[in-house]
Amino acid sequence: MRTIAIANQKGGCGKTTTAVNLAAAFAEKNYRTLLIDLDQQGHSTIGFGYNPDELKVTIYDALVNDNIGIPEVTMNTKIEQLDLAPSNVMLSGAEIDLENIVILSEKLKMVSEKYDITIIDCPPSLGMLTLNGLLASTGVVVPVQVHYYAMEGLKQLFETVNVIAERFQPSHVRILGVLLTLVENNTLLSRQIQQQMREFFGDMVFDAVIHKNVRLAEAPSAGEPALFYAPGSKGTAEYRALAEEIINGWTLVEQVKTLAEELSDDGTLIEQRSDDYDLVRR
Ligand SMILES: Nc1ncnc2c1ncn2[C@@H]1O[C@H](COP(=O)(O)OP(=O)(O)OP(=O)(O)O)[C@@H](O)[C@H]1O
Ligand SMILES: [Mg+2]
Repeated sequence: MRTIAIANQKGGCGKTTTAVNLAAAFAEKNYRTLLIDLDQQGHSTIGFGYNPDELKVTIYDALVNDNIGIPEVTMNTKIEQLDLAPSNVMLSGAEIDLENIVILSEKLKMVSEKYDITIIDCPPSLGMLTLNGLLASTGVVVPVQVHYYAMEGLKQLFETVNVIAERFQPSHVRILGVLLTLVENNTLLSRQIQQQMREFFGDMVFDAVIHKNVRLAEAPSAGEPALFYAPGSKGTAEYRALAEEIINGWTLVEQVKTLAEELSDDGTLIEQRSDDYDLVRR
């Protein structure tokens, strides 16, 4: 099972929209997918048509109760291959009560055979919940809204991911990529900022870009991912492209790994391969 955290402590940069639609895009490609709503606001939960206030059990119960696992808190969605571990305001207690930063990771291990991909919608903070999310993940997608103040706070997030990767082996969490979101359609300013971000982050930035799209904003009120609500919309196509880019990155890494293994009798060649491997970061 691969686990992707959608994280940025900045509010309103498109984390939930990305979590919901990326999860739907993976499910549509027949990956058995689990979406974990790790935000007390319950926006991913609402995005699937559930009322957070009416839920009897949520991801909070799985985090604080030894006897409750992820399967006990997951619910079906309208998309066959996609399950949801919902949340509600109860989860705000976890930021204070939770002392274990690997509890989500441990609970997820128990469902690693059940799902191919888990997506975690993190809250807009770098507290215990986001740390749990990052430690449970193999990769992080960082949505960044394309405007002048978007870089604030990113250094802290990147450092946190690095510290986790270094200190908590075997957690090999790494940034999968920066996702440019809420991009204005065809304004000069938007193009300039995009260019600056690509210069700053280099090949960390996904080729896939998410433009402002009214269907993406409307879909949660219908309780459906945009992929279901407006399958032909531009926003939907862009999230499908993101899923494909991530999958292609995995395939490339697998190919390079296989090649490196085949060459394992020859030290020099392996060294060259590991350079290639660095290039294929995703
Ligand atoms: N590409 C888009 N086009 C139009 N509206 C969008 C787009 N992405 C997000 N939105 C809207 O912007 C708002 C913030 O998006 P979203 O909830 O995904 O951000 P978030 O990072 O999860 O916020 P929070 O930090 O509060 O959890 C929402 O109303 C959402 O519908
Ligand atoms: Mg959110």
